[in-house]
Amino acid sequence: MQHILDAILAGDTATEDFANLDLPESYKAVTVHKDEVDMFEGIPSKEKDPRKSLHVEDVALPELGPGEAYVAVMASAINYNTVWTSIFEPVSTFGFLERYGRLSELTKRHDLPYHVVGSDLSGVVLKTGAGVTKWKAGDRVVAHCLSVEMESADGHNDSMLDPEQRIWGFETNFGGLAHIALVKSNQLMPKPEHLTWEESASPGLVNSTAYRQLVSKNGGQMKQGDNVLIWGASGGLGGFATQYALNGGATPICVVSNEEKAEICRKMGAELIINRSEENWKFWNDEGTEQNPKEWLRLGKKIRELTGGEDIDIVFEHPGRETFGASVFVTRKGGTITTCASTTGYMHEYDNRYLWMNLKRIVSSHFANYRESWEANRLIAQGKIHPTLSRTYTLDQVGQAALDVHHNKHQGKVGVLALSPEEGLGVINTELREKHLDKINAFRGI
Ligand SMILES: NC(=O)c1ccc[n+]([C@@H]2O[C@H](COP(=O)([O-])OP(=O)(O)OC[C@H]3O[C@@H](n4cnc5c(N)ncnc54)[C@H](OP(=O)(O)O)[C@@H]3O)[C@@H](O)[C@H]2O)c1
Repeated sequence: MQHILDAILAGDTATEDFANLDLPESYKAVTVHKDEVDMFEGIPSKEKDPRKSLHVEDVALPELGPGEAYVAVMASAINYNTVWTSIFEPVSTFGFLERYGRLSELTKRHDLPYHVVGSDLSGVVLKTGAGVTKWKAGDRVVAHCLSVEMESADGHNDSMLDPEQRIWGFETNFGGLAHIALVKSNQLMPKPEHLTWEESASPGLVNSTAYRQLVSKNGGQMKQGDNVLIWGASGGLGGFATQYALNGGATPICVVSNEEKAEICRKMGAELIINRSEENWKFWNDEGTEQNPKEWLRLGKKIRELTGGEDIDIVFEHPGRETFGASVFVTRKGGTITTCASTTGYMHEYDNRYLWMNLKRIVSSHFANYRESWEANRLIAQGKIHPTLSRTYTLDQVGQAALDVHHNKHQGKVGVLALSPEEGLGVINTELREKHLDKINAFRGI
């Protein structure tokens, strides 16, 4: 791989030279193994250790199909989906790969005894498959993680509705935590040139998700003046939701669990911040069987205290079972609860009287279509939304990186260097970087 890295680091390698680079037969990748899916059986979720299940090893380079591209990965990032994959919850991802493998002769490639994980990347296109015209070897790119076949009519208004919609590196193989990734060319987007490789790789999945969930017509349709309650407001998704609320003239009410996270939200420009550790709400009894509406009321009062008596227009939901009852309660008449996840449990309970009598809406959201991802990446490239990368690990340390996220010991996003030999490389537009450097550093907690 050294010759590929040298070509990238040289900075002036011509397209045809990139296209002529010899590709290796195998490459270094982070995997989970099919014969280990039962390794954590009987162990409580929090004790399942990604350092035991994630392997860093050489795997064979898959065949390049039509409409696809190989990308030399300079950097990637940890998403919660890598945590789910590594602890084999709620289901093992090998089921996804088996189903995908049954779709066609070509997709059989994905059904292997190992799964190369990872749903973010920044890097350089090495080779494109038949029919690709928009991208070429040498292009500096990031990739969003929507993989769609688009053979059915259903996806043609919104590709997230394609029946064969998958999250690359989670429901497909050959993901971004590796030296080479296999993507569909319609996952590619231009790398924001004022950012380093690791900064530009880190927003991908969560930034696009937050954009659709909060801003898009397919999600919360946030407008200026809205009060937006954001759980985990400095976290992976929340750090972008907070920025979108502020950019769009809304008022974020940020919920975080410690002062350090509160400070990041303040640096982003948020003023209304709740430290949930101090509030210590007990939405559920100790057995986790019954909720306490008085605690929902306590959250509602706190929100009114902060907003001068106003309620919430949009709740940015993802913790799920733990908070969902409270989220439905505190939303104003006619307001919206947007949900994209259930980190604390997917069997939600809420009092439906508060929903229907007050004409509230629950809007489901999942990742983003190409257009929404493009828009989210464009805002990063323009310096209107900034990365929230707090720490970067090497590929060999990926188990520890996933453990940090699993145990909520991280801040913002956690990056991973793939081919890039060190942090700080990859910036081309130094002028734009200089213009936004204070914010870039502040949002990264530097
Ligand atoms: N559907 C999709 O397309 C999609 C996309 C991205 C992520 N997701 C899912 O969304 C979830 C969050 O992802 P993420 O990347 O934002 O993870 P993250 O970086 O871990 O951030 C989540 C934050 O939620 C807060 N939180 C955790 N437990 C909580 C609780 N019991 N009550 C209130 N807040 C709690 C924590 O912030 P504080 O400690 O500061 O409160 C945590 O940092 C994951 O389940 C992930 O799989 C779904």
